[in-house]
Amino acid sequence: MLTNNCVFAIVVNLLTVISTEKFQLEFQWSLINYTWQSSAQYQEAVRTGTYKPDNIFPTGPKLYRDRIYLATPNLQGGVPLTLAYIPRSAKNRTNIPLVPFPSWNFHGGNNCSNIQNVQAVEISPDGILWVLDGIRLSTIKCPPKLLQFDLNKGGILIHSYVFPNDVCLHDGGYLNDLVLDGDFAYITDSSSKDPGLVVYSRSKNRSWKLRDASMLAEKPADEHYALKIIPGTIDGIALSPFEESKIGRIVFYSCLNGYNLTAVPADVLKEEAYHKNDTWRASITHVGRKQGTTDGMMMDNRGNLYYSLTSKNAVGKWNIHQAFNRDSKVIYQSNLMVWPDAFGMDQEGYLYVISNYFLDKTRTIKFRIFKTHTGTKSYQYR
Ligand SMILES: *[C@@H]1O[C@H](CO)[C@@H](O)[C@H](O)[C@H]1NC(C)=O
Ligand SMILES: *[C@@H]1O[C@H](CO)[C@@H](O)[C@H](O)[C@H]1NC(C)=O
Ligand SMILES: *[C@@H]1O[C@H](CO)[C@@H](O)[C@H](O)[C@H]1NC(C)=O
Ligand SMILES: *[C@@H]1O[C@H](CO)[C@@H](O)[C@H](O)[C@H]1NC(C)=O
Ligand SMILES: *[C@@H]1O[C@H](CO)[C@@H](O)[C@H](O)[C@H]1NC(C)=O
Ligand SMILES: *[C@@H]1O[C@H](CO)[C@@H](O)[C@H](O)[C@H]1NC(C)=O
Repeated sequence: MLTNNCVFAIVVNLLTVISTEKFQLEFQWSLINYTWQSSAQYQEAVRTGTYKPDNIFPTGPKLYRDRIYLATPNLQGGVPLTLAYIPRSAKNRTNIPLVPFPSWNFHGGNNCSNIQNVQAVEISPDGILWVLDGIRLSTIKCPPKLLQFDLNKGGILIHSYVFPNDVCLHDGGYLNDLVLDGDFAYITDSSSKDPGLVVYSRSKNRSWKLRDASMLAEKPADEHYALKIIPGTIDGIALSPFEESKIGRIVFYSCLNGYNLTAVPADVLKEEAYHKNDTWRASITHVGRKQGTTDGMMMDNRGNLYYSLTSKNAVGKWNIHQAFNRDSKVIYQSNLMVWPDAFGMDQEGYLYVISNYFLDKTRTIKFRIFKTHTGTKSYQYR
């Protein structure tokens, strides 16, 4: 075991030579487990196949106060619940069990008010947790929805919105990731049948969808994408901070199976009527070609875009005021960071990234959360 670790460490060192940013390990897991209500509940979940640890991977990390919220999306069955959290202050950083949010009773079953299948959440600065319950690839008979919980009031549900079928397919929709712009949420729908950018307005309590060729998978899958259930269409999304651009805030997106980084002004997304004809497409811009394929990405409040490079086990960085093709850089690369997925930021100046490679059954540690000091806050802060 020790010998293996030494060999592994040498390999890591060779690969991290180019890293300019220091990411430190925060949490790691060899498998995901939850805090069960009783051993009887656990035994039953194992017996019926409701809990199959091999099928579970964590994503999300979004931070608020003393918690890190994580989603455990259900892509192949065997996932008993899909939204949970861990305490940030936990002493034991290995295999910490996930605590169901808001409770066990709020998950699954045939009750469509319950949380069914979550891949992403976002938290507004005032503590409202937006939950994207939007993976509808399999047998779930409940329509996709967006839920809001007030974390300052004990996590009570304060709002629920069901997406109509023409915005997100009730059979085949895959709401993957979101950013918040005050009243609005911009959401990527990675569906293979109807991919697009979904806009939801809280005050109007309405949603609409934009579709464009830039949201389609770009090229034939490389070996990473053997997992056919992940479509490879529009996936990562980021929003520029306030006052960084004369044309207002800008939404960036990329496809999981693609190297293009694309941008569209948020003001263009906000007007439902603009999308009745094709003129809005003139405001889509091609920002540049990334160094690899990207899953999650995030901007801070100084206009720095951090993006995962899944095909390189790396993180890229670019500042919105610079030229992408000239100035974007790989800032970290490590064999420990297999499939960097999603980002989050705390309020103390740290950026978090989670890596999860559950396809590789030979690795003992499959999931890791890293953090690095940026001295900035998320795009939602001024
Ligand atoms: C999951 O947690 C329960 C309760 O703590 C424990 O009994 C069980 O062995 C754990 N399962 C695995 C696969 O680690
Ligand atoms: C940390 O927690 C895991 C899972 O509960 C356990 O297997 C391990 O022994 C713990 N380690 C320490 C140092 O307490
Ligand atoms: C369905 O789930 C909601 C939210 O968890 C809960 O308030 C309601 O009581 C549940 N209904 C039934 C019939 O279980
Ligand atoms: C928002 O829309 C949903 C439809 O999904 C509806 O059930 C809900 O009552 C609406 N809420 C408000 C406050 O209008
Ligand atoms: C990616 O960008 C290139 C260069 O602008 C463009 O030719 C190509 O059509 C783009 N691909 C997609 C799927 O948007
Ligand atoms: C397309 O829609 C925009 C915004 O609603 C409108 O200003 C424009 O006149 C429309 N163009 C055509 C060709 O209909």
